[in-house]
Amino acid sequence: MRIKALKKELASSNLDGYLSTNLKNVYYFTGFSSLAEAETLIPLDGDPILFIRELELENAEASSKNCIIEVVKKDETAIKKIASVVKNFKPKRLGLDDLPASTYLKLVERFRSIEFKVDMDLVWKLRIIKDDEEVRYIRKAAKLADAGMKTALAMIKAGVREYQVAAEAEYAMRVAGSEGVAFDTLVASGPRSSLPHGVCSDRKIKEGDVVFVDVGATFNGYRSDITRTTIVGKPTRQQAKVYNAVLEAQEEAVKAIRASVSAREVDEVARRVIKESGYENRFIHSLGHGVGLDVHEPPKLSPNSKDILKTGNVITTEPGVYIPHKWGIRIEDTVLVLKKNAERLTKTPREFV
Ligand code: GLY
Ligand code: MN
Repeated sequence: MRIKALKKELASSNLDGYLSTNLKNVYYFTGFSSLAEAETLIPLDGDPILFIRELELENAEASSKNCIIEVVKKDETAIKKIASVVKNFKPKRLGLDDLPASTYLKLVERFRSIEFKVDMDLVWKLRIIKDDEEVRYIRKAAKLADAGMKTALAMIKAGVREYQVAAEAEYAMRVAGSEGVAFDTLVASGPRSSLPHGVCSDRKIKEGDVVFVDVGATFNGYRSDITRTTIVGKPTRQQAKVYNAVLEAQEEAVKAIRASVSAREVDEVARRVIKESGYENRFIHSLGHGVGLDVHEPPKLSPNSKDILKTGNVITTEPGVYIPHKWGIRIEDTVLVLKKNAERLTKTPREFV
């Protein structure tokens, strides 16, 4: 299905084939996940070719589907191997994904008669809609993230360091079956919680701190993303007000999600609620992003997004308010876009805990 859909895109873009060096794309098209380097060449006419390194041959044979395997030996280069295949089908125009500039230059130098077109959007058109199998994997990754969040929230108390919370959350996800984290776990406490990407530090959590935890798990390559904010002790009136505004913004945004709605409109729903609370200038990032093999994928839910949501998109909704040097509050879930509504895949309770 994926190869057939790609070939349809190739035909309408006047391309004779597509060369991927992006390992997520290689996995998406072949089922083979490389720890090092691998490429796929998908001709418009003919079977996909997977180029792998000798050390990964057994893995590739066991996991790849619908493709011919070509082994790049340890004394060969991938470009040389690709050239030996390209010689047979003589493409005039080849599509490329988001490859490093150095690789692009090598390709242009080696294949002077081929016109290359860098077009990652061509693959995003496919990856942006998750099929049933992909949804199953993200659902599992979301469940694992919920397990990590439960452990993290139970651990947060005065005297515990941020990285200890992160380590226990990651351990809980790992023993429950996560392949690894979906991204670097964020645990930001006290004044550090005003940093939306505050990673985690050795800071000891103190009484009265606002603490947010942002974690994700990975299952069969697919990711999840969840954030919860808590407080050690009693919230101030201002903190309670902002928490309720962020919560309401998230609830309203999720209610607004369905197929055919513009991503910009959903962002606007959340932004309007935050504006009513008087904190619109402190909602300093977009509402959300797609999630799949990458943790940040299209579509983008932001004030200038041109994306229209479609059934099968998996996206985050993560409004946040950040008071510089004081504290920040964010609530995030991974949700599945359906025809008439959205389904939350991460399900940790959202009330102030
Ligand atoms: N989970 C981190 C982010 O979405 O930015
Ligand atoms: Mn996110």
